[in-house]
Amino acid sequence: MLGKIHFYLGISIVIIFILTGQYMHHNYDHLKGMEQMNRALFRAGHLYILLFGLIHIALGSYFRRIKNVIFRKIQWLGSVILFIASFLVIYGFFTELPTEHIERPLTRMSLYLVLLGISIHGLVSLKKD
Ligand code: HEM
Repeated sequence: MLGKIHFYLGISIVIIFILTGQYMHHNYDHLKGMEQMNRALFRAGHLYILLFGLIHIALGSYFRRIKNVIFRKIQWLGSVILFIASFLVIYGFFTELPTEHIERPLTRMSLYLVLLGISIHGLVSLKKD
């Protein structure tokens, strides 16, 4: 169940990634003529979203549910952290750009959270059934 959620959420995020391309194309004239910092940040945001989607697809494709109840709960915790991270990276793309500042607190937080969520899943995966 959790694996399937990750898999289909990942596909949905990849679709959102394609839509962010459309958004840059239609709303910002394909970023043509945009000053370089914002242009680079838009590109990075577009590609972060792709990679978040791929992380979910990869996790979902090989997901192994642990039998131990406590470790299952820890898996859920890792997944919830990844769901929040994914929401933040997408929300940040639309709300933090374009910007006058180099700082993007929501996007930064999303990357800390994806590191935490994947680390939790990685550590739990070491547990034998
Ligand atoms: C409807 C689909 C898409 C649209 C309209 C779109 C649009 C854009 C735009 C406007 C940029 C910024 C370009 C610039 O700064 O000059 C960009 C960058 C980029 N897109 Fe998309 N995108 C789409 C889908 C995709 C797909 C499917 C991929 C491939 C996996 C992709 C990969 C990239 C990459 C690698 C960059 C960075 C290019 C660079 O830094 O040189 N995009 N895209």
